[in-house]
Amino acid sequence: MSRIVIVSNRTPGKGPAAGGLAVALRKVLADQEGFWFGWSGKLTDDPSPEARIEDIDGLSVAQIDLTRDDHHAYYAGFSNSILWPSFHLRLDLATIESHWYEGYRRVNAQFARALKPLLKPDDIVWVHDYHLIPLATELRSLGARNRMGFYLHIPFPTADALYAIPHHAELMRDLSRYDLVGMQANRDVAAFTEFADHQAPSTFGATQAAVDIDFSGTEIAAFPIGSDPDAFARLAASPAATKMIHRMRRVLADQRLVLGVDRLDYSKGLPQRVEAYEKLLANNPRLRRTVHMLQVAPPSRDSIKEYQEIGDTLDAMCGRVMGRFAEPDWQPLTYVKRAYGQPSLAGLYRLARVGLVTPLRDGMNLVAHEFVGSQDPQDPGVLVLSRFAGAAEIFPEALQVNPFDTDETAEALRMALDMPLDERRERWGALMAAARRHNVDDWASSFLQRLSPGMASPKTSKRDILYLASVA
Ligand code: F6P
Repeated sequence: MSRIVIVSNRTPGKGPAAGGLAVALRKVLADQEGFWFGWSGKLTDDPSPEARIEDIDGLSVAQIDLTRDDHHAYYAGFSNSILWPSFHLRLDLATIESHWYEGYRRVNAQFARALKPLLKPDDIVWVHDYHLIPLATELRSLGARNRMGFYLHIPFPTADALYAIPHHAELMRDLSRYDLVGMQANRDVAAFTEFADHQAPSTFGATQAAVDIDFSGTEIAAFPIGSDPDAFARLAASPAATKMIHRMRRVLADQRLVLGVDRLDYSKGLPQRVEAYEKLLANNPRLRRTVHMLQVAPPSRDSIKEYQEIGDTLDAMCGRVMGRFAEPDWQPLTYVKRAYGQPSLAGLYRLARVGLVTPLRDGMNLVAHEFVGSQDPQDPGVLVLSRFAGAAEIFPEALQVNPFDTDETAEALRMALDMPLDERRERWGALMAAARRHNVDDWASSFLQRLSPGMASPKTSKRDILYLASVA
């Protein structure tokens, strides 16, 4: 049976995995033979060309170090100051320094040189996320003929945002070197297909030739990622979660909790969210003292100026809401800049009357799935969800909002807080059924089945592949 080789920028560390990607993929290698390959998290002046192989909590993990300069150009530079903002349609926050592309390419080539000697001919290689788009090209140039799949965890950009990215045509050509490219949502496949079908000139002008890329050997499909909602249901009833619930109940008394949990990232729409909450309190004086908003926002990528700025903006906005509404014996919100483990989060999700998941644009957003999984079926909370998260395609029964329209979000918050128990149960039942249909195990097995149809699978997935476009 073929081995599975997972490649991602970050590899799983010891102890409980924090990010959605790590949680999802740990399970794949728990069930199937193979290994995980990626960056060790270490920076050195003279990295070894060979990967170090370690056993991490029962997983075989091969890792390489990077030089400080290459890592800066590849991670903070090209990946997170060019690709991330452009793919999230925030060109205003992009820093276009095209020389970072060389570092990005160099790191991808370094990954390939260290990975190639570890590959057996029938290994299936599954590459994750925007840091590693060129990896198939680099591996193939070293002679690898394996089946290779790529999964994009973030949204795919519209054509004009794509054209703003230096070397975008090369990146699209890199995608054509994979056998399968998976995206989160139908809208992402549609954006990709639009580019692939039209292959429009990358710059305007009569002398510019159209980009000419052959996608005939690449299958593109949406594979919306999910969580393990039943595991969250169990976690939400665990002693650690119950401890968190008791602690919070002592503080909240009978106030209802409005909860946000996000990395501190400008794509998450946090200032708009706080503004919407401010409008809720301003428009509905009866709700003051009956609600409390908790925003959990651990800092992320904080070497990048735009990430420092979003932290400052949020500090100022939370201060403004406090100054406007707080009283000696009532605080409208708490803003916590640190990460919590999954059991504590599951407790918070379960306690919350409203889960506020309002990114301006998001690949999927697993917080929405985890919130749904953690609810008490007898007394569930309400999910207020951005229609620009991939999760909006999965969860039509959420209260969906345009996160840029803070009046609309404020009104959705009011509706959520006033929603009768019957309606909350009915909506949650449909959301939980959808979260189960789109669970992480089926996500992984359906991607791997599609990448390597002959491969035996522990489960044959019956879940819907929402959209499939064979781009010829
Ligand atoms: O959302 C994309 C993503 O790569 C996730 O998969 C991951 O959990 C998150 O960003 C973390 O990003 P970083 O590795 O930059 O901290």
